[in-house]
Parts: sequence; C-alpha cells; structure tokens
Amino acid sequence: MSTRVSAEPKLRREAGLLQLVFYGVGNIIGAGIYVLAGSASGIAGSAVWLAFLAGAIIALFTGLSYAELAAMYPKDASEYTYLGKAYGNRFLSFITQWIMLLTEIVAAAAVSLGFAQYFQSILAIPAWIVAVALLTILTIVSIIGVKHALRFNTIFSIIAILGLIVVIAAGVPKLGSVDYSFSPTGFSGIMGAAVLVFFAYIGFDNIANLSEETKDPQRTLPRGLIIAVAISTILYVLVGIAAVSLVPYQQLSTSNAPLALAASSTLGPAAYDVLLIAALLTTTNTVLVLLIVGSRIIYGMGREGALPKILGSVNGKTHTPIVASILVLVVAFLFLPIGSVGGVAKVTSFGSLLAFILVNFSLLHLRRTAPHLKRPFKAPLNVRWVSITALLGAISSFALLTQFDITSVMLGLILPISGIVLYIALNRGGIVGVDTRLHQKHE
Ligand code: ALA
Repeated sequence: MSTRVSAEPKLRREAGLLQLVFYGVGNIIGAGIYVLAGSASGIAGSAVWLAFLAGAIIALFTGLSYAELAAMYPKDASEYTYLGKAYGNRFLSFITQWIMLLTEIVAAAAVSLGFAQYFQSILAIPAWIVAVALLTILTIVSIIGVKHALRFNTIFSIIAILGLIVVIAAGVPKLGSVDYSFSPTGFSGIMGAAVLVFFAYIGFDNIANLSEETKDPQRTLPRGLIIAVAISTILYVLVGIAAVSLVPYQQLSTSNAPLALAASSTLGPAAYDVLLIAALLTTTNTVLVLLIVGSRIIYGMGREGALPKILGSVNGKTHTPIVASILVLVVAFLFLPIGSVGGVAKVTSFGSLLAFILVNFSLLHLRRTAPHLKRPFKAPLNVRWVSITALLGAISSFALLTQFDITSVMLGLILPISGIVLYIALNRGGIVGVDTRLHQKHE
C-alpha cells in the first residue's frame, strides 16, 4: 500500500474580471426578477420599480463593504473570515457564516422549485421530482470542475440578461402609459414589495466566496462585485417600469410567468416562449451558482476547523470539494417540502440581512481598531474612521428587517438558532478545533 503523502490539492484560479461579473450577475438575476416581480407588483402597484431601487441601495452599500473586506482577506468562507478578523469571536463568526450558508441552500431549493413550476408548463411532472433532478445534475456539474461550471454560467448569465432586455424593449413603446408613483397602499406597499424583491439582489455577496478561484483577487473582486450590482440594478428598475407599462399590475401579480406575460403582450406568443426558456435557463444558472457557493462556504469552514475537517477536503482529480458539495445537495433536498418561492425567498432575505448587518459592523470595527491594515480597495465616503457606506448598509438592512411579517421572522430565526445549537453540539463533542487561524485578529 502506498504511503505517499501528496500536497493538499488547491482550488484552481480560473476566473478573470469578465467571468466574475457574469458569475455575479448570474447569481443575482434569477427567480427574484423572473418570478417575484409579479407578486411584488401586486403589492407596490406601478411604483414597483421603487421597491427594486430600495433593494439596490442596501445591495450597493453592503456590496461596498464586501468589496473592501474581500480585497483585504481574499479567502473562501468570507463572512466567517471578516467577523473573525474584526472581533476574534469564534461563536459570532460561526453563526454569521452558518446563516449565510443556510440562505444559499434554502435559496437553491426555492429557485429549483421555481424552475420546476415553469417546467411543468412543458411537461406535467411533479415539482419535487423536477427539483430533485435539477439539484442533482447541477451538483455533478459543479463537481466535475468549476471551470466548466463557470463557462455554463457565463452563457446562462447572458441569456438571463437578454431575457430582461426583451421585456425592456417590449415596454419602450408603452412608456408613460401609467403613473409610476402609484402604489395601492402607498409607502408601506413599496416597502412590502421591497421585502419580497430584495431576494432578487441576493448573490452579490457571493462573489467574495470565489476569491480563491479568481486571478488577482485584490483588484478583480471589488470591481466585479460593483459592476455586477450596477448591471442588475439598472436591469431590474427598467424591467419594473416596463412590466407595469405593458400589463396592469393586478394582472401581473396573478401570473406564474409575469415577465413572459408582459413581453408577449406587445411582441406576441413567440415572446412568451422566449421568456419561458430564458426563465428556465436563468433559474438553472442561479441554482448552479448557489450550489457552488454553498459548497465553497462549507469547504472554507471545514478547512478552518469550524466544521469537521473532512468537509474542507478537495478532491485530487477534480480539484473541487466533493464532500461539501454532496452535503449541500442533501440539505437542499430537506428544504424542498417548504414549497412557495415567495415564502422561502423571504426566509433567505431575512437571514441575509442579519448577516449583512454583522458584515457592515465588522468593516466599521476594523476601520476603527486596525486603521494601519492594507486596504487594496477602500469603500468611498469616509468621516475619519467611519465608513458612511458601511453605516448606511447596516442601517438600511436593519430598516428592511423591520418590515418583515411575523411568519417570515419566525421562520428566519430558525437560521441563527440552528447555528447556535450546532455550534454547541460540535464544540461539546470536540468535533471541531478549539482555535483557528481566523481568530488571530486583524492579520
Ligand atoms: N437573487 C437570486 C434570485 O433572484 C437569488 O433568484
């Protein structure tokens, strides 16, 4: 038997700026715009574009914090790293990363069900079977090699963008046909819709998780992140305006395929099919990216000793974290019975906003306690050590959290609570390491 000890296989550095932007856009654009834009219109009326704008503000402020931190610490398991470097508190780091991990997996399950609903209009197969098949196939794709996965991702991201451009183009002749400030329940309607469509922006943060697979991450990560958020925001706001110009918002809100309905209203039935295909491919892409990110978070946590070491291993042949990928798949299966895309999306958003507050605080804390650290990218607008954008990122995330309904809050709280239980169990059982590199603050 061979006793050869090989060097630990590393992830490959494959992604450049363009690939990263497409990865980001592919992760951001998904069920949020293709599915939830309809129900959001029902709540915010013709002013639904304002709900998209509100989501963009949080994404942009918090995105700048991610950009600064990702450039300082270009590591996988990003939130875990940032919290660790700022506070040196293992528990806080673990909980934040756990919440982010579950939001990825819950979102993957939700979007796979969204895919299944579309798919059912082509073939009447039970939604859960379609979702299981999609999740399994995409896990295999992500295991075979991130290079191939990213190549698919770029193509799918272009399709996602093109689908939205078709809707925008269809809406141009109808511009000005409605009052874009009208919301049936005023400001509260816009905020209610913002809670729903914030899901559409989730994913910008995941760009940081590909740092070990990115060439020249200090420069590429912040740029990729900001460009991806900007592209998505412009598309969402324009699609919001176009959709309500094309079809009355009440009608949009009752449609399973709101953007297909909107585009076909002026461009005819062929446009319906085009948008249907675009939605299927876009949701496929989103699930693929969420699965990759989920596995990378587990890989990062396993490698740093926050989860069992086996989860931090990379396969020597595929150069991908196979054990972590399979675990993500299994956990995604567990969430499938939850069902409704909108309900699950709100749980995802609740968890993400909690984590975003902590990430923004980490940036502020590091600015105050470790001003000497090298910051290859620094978020703009600063008053002495205070980053105004990080402060606004934390405040706006908190403000949106206060708008959630009680059911979503209760379900959302499962994310941190399950993390607390797991943390205690792993530490009591001595399954994870007592100390990790991440708890050497500031380094
Ligand atoms: N932002 C992603 C979507 O809308 C999660 O599907």
